[in-house]
Amino acid sequence: MLGIRTPVLVGGEEADLDEGKLTITDSRTGEKYSLPIKNSSVRAIELRQIREDPDEFGMLSYDPGYTNTASCTSRITFIDGDRGILRYRGFPIEDLAQSCTFTEVAFLLLNGNLPLQNELEAWNRELAGHSHPHEKVRQLLDGFLPDAHPMGVLVSAVAALSTYYPDAKQIGCASTRRLQQVRLLGQLPTIAAYVYRKSRGRSYPDPDPELSYSENFIRTLWSGTRHEPGPRAATVLARALDRLFILHADHEQNCSTSAMRQVSSSNADPYVSVASAAAALYGPLHGGANEAVLGMLDEIGSISAIPAFMRQVKAGERRLMGFGHRVYKNYDPRARIVRSIADEVFEVTERNPRIDLAMELERIALEDEYFIKRRLYPNVDFYSGIIYQAMGFSRDMFTVLFALGRAAGWLSHWEEFMRDSEKRIARPRQIYLGPDRTDVVPMGDR
Ligand code: ACO
Repeated sequence: MLGIRTPVLVGGEEADLDEGKLTITDSRTGEKYSLPIKNSSVRAIELRQIREDPDEFGMLSYDPGYTNTASCTSRITFIDGDRGILRYRGFPIEDLAQSCTFTEVAFLLLNGNLPLQNELEAWNRELAGHSHPHEKVRQLLDGFLPDAHPMGVLVSAVAALSTYYPDAKQIGCASTRRLQQVRLLGQLPTIAAYVYRKSRGRSYPDPDPELSYSENFIRTLWSGTRHEPGPRAATVLARALDRLFILHADHEQNCSTSAMRQVSSSNADPYVSVASAAAALYGPLHGGANEAVLGMLDEIGSISAIPAFMRQVKAGERRLMGFGHRVYKNYDPRARIVRSIADEVFEVTERNPRIDLAMELERIALEDEYFIKRRLYPNVDFYSGIIYQAMGFSRDMFTVLFALGRAAGWLSHWEEFMRDSEKRIARPRQIYLGPDRTDVVPMGDR
């Protein structure tokens, strides 16, 4: 919905208002075209009528990286990147992070409204009832190499659920879709905990359905290890994690959510679609950035080494990881909240000294012409890794934590897409610049 006026609703339906026309003159032919404007946009297919020659295909819009192309309509998340605004279903992210639990926000994203007390209790019971992964998951995890990256394992485990639950293929049935959503959200924290335990050669303890979503996750993850928190620390860390999951829960048509929509547009089931979204998240330019931030901070090492590092960044030799965003050209509102969560976490953990280095990097960057000119600010990943590390998570688990929160958003977009009357298989066009027809020269003559 970026930069697009909120649609006017009449009786819950989008009003078909005449917003005027965009008039285009093709200087090659002198022809004039009038394209209808709706929601401050024109339909790309309208460009097809613009032709120099009646036999040619027609005009395309060219948009590598989809910087200015709306691929769908959505009622889930609103972002105003210039003003640093993020809202889920109309609710400001700051209020949700302050007042709600993660499962409450997942309910909101999926259903469009905040739950009543009894609805939330029933929803939590339902999710807890699905917290035991399918029995085959343990065997599947045992098949991976001990040093396998948890994100690679998570992607594979989620894809494998598609084979355990063939009913998920009934994507036209609303109740079956809902069952997969609850199954996946319920099982995901336990699968993520097992992925970590597998990489440390640990057993797979049963989840405890009496605990909250986030506390159950950290208890299952660290049961019997030196990271297992005491009662007070467990409460503080679970609440911090809950808030981090809320901040990561959705971000409209980002790379992973677009991957989810793209894959599910072929009617693939939700498990392989979520696996594709998680695969997209794995990359260091997306969810893998917080892992990269920690690597960068370790490499810089000390405040005195920052100027030399910044010179490399400004020379285009490397990037300041955790900075910049395709959409935010202002301070990412999530980064501000993450920064405040750090202080709460440090009250029950050791203070992570990397926070001082990160704060100094931020201070220098925000005063530097290079970053000011390009409108580069800290994004959600700049401080999150520092918190996760203080909590006791290993670096390779950071993107897994991101995936736990974002799964609620992926599934909400999937549900919205399955109900969309304009749903079609995603099939972008290309501009072919390769060779013209070329004859095959026999092998001996090449
Ligand atoms: N450090 C230094 N320079 C940067 C950075 C950065 N982190 N990000 C962008 N720039 C510069 C680019 O070099 C470019 O400069 P130029 O105009 O002189 O060529 C300009 O800013 C515009 O950058 P683009 O790459 O065109 O911006 P784009 O929207 O394509 O990329 C992205 C956005 C991928 C997030 C980018 O800012 C980046 O790589 N950041 C670091 C990785 C990161 O933190 N990713 C997490 C994003 S948040 C998330 O996924 C949850």
